[in-house]
Amino acid sequence: MCGIVGYAGKRRAAPLLYAGLKRLEYRGYDSAGIATLAEKIEVKKCTGPVANLRAAVDLKGTCGIGHTRWATHGAPTAANAHPHVYGRFAVVHNGIIENDRALRKMCEARGESFSSETDSEVIAHLLERLYRGDLLEALKRVASVLEGSYALAVLCADEPGKIALAREKSPLVLGRGKLGNFLASDVPALVGACLEICPLRDGEFALITESEVTMSEGERFISPDWLPLERGRGESGKAGHAHYMEKEICEIPAALCRSRETASGAVFSRVREELCAAKNIRLVACGTAYHASLAAKYAFEKLARVPAEVTVASEFRYQDPILSENSAVIAVSQSGETADTLAAAKLAKERGAKVIAVVNEARSSLSALADETLPINAGREVCVAATKSYVAQLSVLYTLAASVAEAQGRRGYGDLLSELPSLARETVKAGRAVGGWAPHFAAARSAYFIGRGADAVTALEGSLKLKEVSYLPSEGYPAGELKHGTLALIEEGTPVVAVLTSQELAEKTMNAVHETRARGAKVFLVTSIPAYAGEKGLTGCVVIPPCTEVYSPALAAIPLQLLAYYVALARGCDPDKPRNLAKSVTVE
Ligand code: M6R
Repeated sequence: MCGIVGYAGKRRAAPLLYAGLKRLEYRGYDSAGIATLAEKIEVKKCTGPVANLRAAVDLKGTCGIGHTRWATHGAPTAANAHPHVYGRFAVVHNGIIENDRALRKMCEARGESFSSETDSEVIAHLLERLYRGDLLEALKRVASVLEGSYALAVLCADEPGKIALAREKSPLVLGRGKLGNFLASDVPALVGACLEICPLRDGEFALITESEVTMSEGERFISPDWLPLERGRGESGKAGHAHYMEKEICEIPAALCRSRETASGAVFSRVREELCAAKNIRLVACGTAYHASLAAKYAFEKLARVPAEVTVASEFRYQDPILSENSAVIAVSQSGETADTLAAAKLAKERGAKVIAVVNEARSSLSALADETLPINAGREVCVAATKSYVAQLSVLYTLAASVAEAQGRRGYGDLLSELPSLARETVKAGRAVGGWAPHFAAARSAYFIGRGADAVTALEGSLKLKEVSYLPSEGYPAGELKHGTLALIEEGTPVVAVLTSQELAEKTMNAVHETRARGAKVFLVTSIPAYAGEKGLTGCVVIPPCTEVYSPALAAIPLQLLAYYVALARGCDPDKPRNLAKSVTVE
C-alpha cells in the first residue's frame, strides 16, 4: 500500500528518491519522507502529498531511502511518517508487523522511548539492539522475530553507502541502471532510472551499494535474476485530460484491443485446456476485480454451462475451501499485489489447485506465484479507481469463457467480442451525457444502482465507483431484491440508476424502476434498448450500443464510471486520489 524507494550510487540520492516517490504516490498519499546518509543520517518528512516533500531534495548523500505512506497504525502525522530513525538506523517499511505490541513492550521495558505510533518503528529499535557490526546480519536477526508482512529498506550510520533489504509478503524490487543501484516497492518507481530489475521473493534479503547487489535467502547467497525493464512501462501523464480517471476511461477502447492479444498465445491455450479439464472453477478477487469475477461467473455459466464460484479473496482462506488438483482457481487482480488475493492464490496452490492469474502487472507477485498468467494489457492505470482495467479484465475473462464454450461445441461467442472496442468507443461518447446528471447526485444523501442478470453486476460496480471517488453513500442491488428491504430507503428525490441491457429481463427491471419512482426517486436509465429511453418519468437516460447480453457489463460500466467521475468533481473531490484508499492494497 505504501511506496518505498531507495538508491545507492554516484549521484545525490534525494532528487532521485523524490522523483521515485512521485511516481509511487498512487500507493499511498497521507505522508512521505526521505532519509539520506552522508556523514550522518538526515531525514525530512511531511504530511499530505509527496509534493510537500520538495525541500527534501536538498538532503546530502549519495545513498538514501524514501517512503510514501498509507496509514495502518497511527494517524497520518509527520511523526508517523517513515523513515523511522532510532540510534544508528533509518527504516522504511511496507506491510504490518502483527507482533508489534509485544515487541514494543519489550523495548519500552528496556527504557527505550518511541517517537511514533506505528508498528514499523519497532524495527529500528530492534536493529539497534541486535546490531553487531554487520547491517545485513542485523536485519536477518530482526526479521526472524517479526510476524506479519514486510518490505524493508534500512540505512545504518555506521555503514555508509549500504542499504539492506528484506521481503516477506510485501513486494520489493531491485533495479540497476547507469546511475547506480535502486530498490522500490513497485516497478513504476524505477522506470527511466533502471535498465534491469529483479523482484525479491518472500524470505529473501539483499544488500545494495553503489557498485554491488548481493542477495541471499537465509545463509545461502543467490544470484539476482535480472530482467530487462521495458521502456514504455511508464505512463505518459494526463495527455490533456484534467484527471487520470477521465484519461483512463477514454483509453478503454484501446485497452480492449490490447486485451485481445492475450487470447492468441500458447499460455491462453494451456489455460483453456486446464479449465476444460477442471472439475470446478473458482474465481477469487477483491473490489472491482471481484465484480469482474462475478461477471465472468455469469459468462462461464451462460455461455459454457460450466459452474463457476466466486469468492471475495479476503474470505477465501477462512472458508476452508474445498479444492483439489482438479480445481482451477482464477485469481483476478489489476496490480497482482493485493495481499488477500495473493493469500487466496497461495492457499489454492497448497491444496493442489491450478492457479491462473489474470493481471495487469505481469511482473507482479501474483504472476510469480501462479501456474499461468494471462495479462490483461490495459496499460498502466494511475487513478486509484479501477476503470480501464475492469473492462480489460472482463474482456480476458469473457474470451476464456467463450473459448471454453467453443471447446464444448457452443461456437460464435468469441467472434462477438471483436466488436467490443468500437462499441466501447461509442459508449464513451454517449456516456459523457451523464455529466448532466451530476448535480442531482451531488446534492443527494445517497444513491442506488439496480439491474438484473449481468446488469446486477454493473449496478454493484457503478455503486462502488461512485462511493470511492465522490464519497456519496450508495448501494448496488439486484433490482428484484430491492423490495425486500432497501426500498425503505428511497425517498423524495433519491437518485436511482437503473441498468437495463437484457431484453428478456427488461420488464422486470422496469417494475423495480416504477416501484422506486412511486416512492419519489429520480430515476436515471442506462440502457441498450432504445425503446425504453422514452419511458415516462425518467430524470435522465443514456442509450449505449447493444451487444450480446452476457458481455454488456463491459459497456454499461462506462457511463457509470463517468458518472462517478463527474459527481466527484461536482462534490469537490479529487477523483484520482480518493481519501483513505491506495491503488495497491498490500496488507490483509
Ligand atoms: O489490484 P487489484 O485489482 O487486486 O485491487 C483490488 C481492489 O483493491 C481494487 O479493485 C479496488 O476496489 C479499486 N480501487 C476499485 O476501483
